[in-house]
This record gives sequence, C-alpha cells and structure tokens, in this order.
Amino acid sequence: MAMAARALLPVSLLLSSLFSGALSTTFTLTNSCSYTVWPGLLSSAGTPALGTTGFALAPGESRAVDAPGAWSGRIWARTLCSTNDQGRFTCATGDCGSGAIECSGGGAAPPCSLAEFTLAGSGGNDFYDVSLVDGSNLPMVVVPQGGGGSGCGTTGCMVDVNVPCPADLKVAGPDGATIACKSACEAFGRPEDCCSGPEFGTPEACRSSSYSLFFKNACPRAYSYAYDDATSTFTCATGSASYLIEFCPSISSLKSSVGGTNASPALPVVNDSVSYLGHNRDRSGSGSWYTPSSSHASPSSAPGPLALAAFAAVSTWLICSARRH
Ligand SMILES: *[C@@H]1O[C@H](CO)[C@@H](O)[C@H](O)[C@H]1NC(C)=O
Repeated sequence: MAMAARALLPVSLLLSSLFSGALSTTFTLTNSCSYTVWPGLLSSAGTPALGTTGFALAPGESRAVDAPGAWSGRIWARTLCSTNDQGRFTCATGDCGSGAIECSGGGAAPPCSLAEFTLAGSGGNDFYDVSLVDGSNLPMVVVPQGGGGSGCGTTGCMVDVNVPCPADLKVAGPDGATIACKSACEAFGRPEDCCSGPEFGTPEACRSSSYSLFFKNACPRAYSYAYDDATSTFTCATGSASYLIEFCPSISSLKSSVGGTNASPALPVVNDSVSYLGHNRDRSGSGSWYTPSSSHASPSSAPGPLALAAFAAVSTWLICSARRH
C-alpha cells in the first residue's frame, strides 16, 4: 500500500510536468518606453485563450503572462490610448476595436509592430518572429530566455522607424508627430507590395522592394514583407524557453538580457551602419540626424545566397502552417 503510493508519486509528478509545466511557457512583457503602452494579445483560431487579452503597462513596468502549450497568436503594443466621454477606449496605434482595455479577440489595426508565436510547432520547436509586414508603431524585440536550438536568438526591431519613415508611409498623430509607419502594402495596396494576386502571390514572385528594404535595413531580423521568411523566422526547442517581449528596448538593456549563449542567426539584431541607431527613445526627436539615403530610392534587389539557402528550410514550415505574416 505505502509502497504503491510512493511509486505513484513520481509518476504523477512526471505526468503533470509533461502536461503542464514542460509544455507551457511564460511571456514577460516589459515596457521600456518613456510612455505607457497597452499590450494586446490575440490567440489564433483554435488555440487556447490566454489569461488576458490586453492591459496597461506603465513605463518601466513588466507583467508575466502564462501561455499554455501549443499556443499561437500575436502580441503587440497599443499607444496613445484614451477613454472618451462615452466610456469607449481607443488607441491611436494598434487599436483592437474592442472599445475596452481587453481586446477580447480583436486584432491590431495596422500599422503596428507584431510579435508572432507558434509554440510547439513542427519539429519540436517554438516559432516566433517580429513582423513589420503590417507596418510599425514602436520598436520591440523578442528575447528568448534560456532556450535551446541553433535558431533560438533575439529578434525584433531596435529602431524607432517612425523617425526615418519615408514621407509617403508616415502616419501623423493629432499634434503632427509621426506615430506609426505604414507598410507599402497598406500605403499603396499594390499586389507586388502585398504579395497578392496571381502574379505576386508566391515567394518566388514577391520580392523585397525599396520600401521593404527601408524596414529591413533598419531591423535586419524583422519581417519586412510577407515572404521575408529566410532571415526573419526564429525557433527555440519547445519547452526550453520563456520569452521576454520588450517594447522600446535600449541597446544596453538588450545586451544584458541576451546573455552570451544563444546562437547568432544570419543577420545582426541591429544594423550598426544605420545612422539613426541610439536615438530610439525619444519619439519627439527632430529627426534631423537621419537623412533618407539612397537606400530607399534605389530599386529592389533579390535576396542574397544566404537568404535563399535559409529560405528553403523555413518555407516548408510556412507552407505547412499556411500562415501569412
Ligand atoms: C544596413 O543598412 C545599410 C543601408 O542603410 C544597408 O546597405 C545594409 O545592407 C544594412 N545591413 C544589414 C545587415 O541589413
């Protein structure tokens, strides 16, 4: 009797860790911006809900959100939010249409920087990326904590691209300051920018453009257009990592949180040759320190050989998941 109970205890511990602990993870959302943001969280259809779909995060504040195994969805930050006389809560960027702080199944209105996750995906991996395919509203990074696997690295966009945003992509707030930067797809709606239609609806046909290269140069590891998979999708072995999602990261805080153990994917998380780095904290900056260079006046170029090699591996997963970023 006593023997049997003692034998069962380790088994039940093992089972509970298999079915809860080992297959769940934690997202820690940190606001390093100088202003309040309101994160939004959207679960993909058919995946379990999280404990929250939206909340306020004051400057310097962090909040942990537990995610069940096999969760997939998106996490972003809303900015410049307020509640009107009728009690309706809205945000100038990233609004989810719920009229309340909880998004309750609403997604982010573009332009908005997005962190995208598919936990417990194919091959025993968590897949994640930061996407600027729907434009950008603020800098954000995803930093895996303690993860394993060669693709388990920091990704995201350190740069406040609102400042150098090309004039025809800028979204101005009430006071005239740029509050977000549209994608070319949203701004112009052309099939070649949206990777849509019979002519441009495949990875082979839809290539980077001068507009997507503007985002890619500023944020080399983030998705700059829908088929930017080769350099923009990251993986950690499922169950090995929790994830820090930091809004307006500073380069120094990032260095301390990254540690030295994660593998370095093909592209740097910051492009040291971009002259507006280090000016990402002040959204009211004059912008005079960045002169839009020939980089987004030149025509598009094809991905390099490294990108093409990596593309083959990652596209398999993307085709399987049939998920458009
Ligand atoms: C960095 O940006 C420059 C132009 O601003 C670009 O030519 C270069 O390819 C970028 N490097 C990376 C790694 O993205």
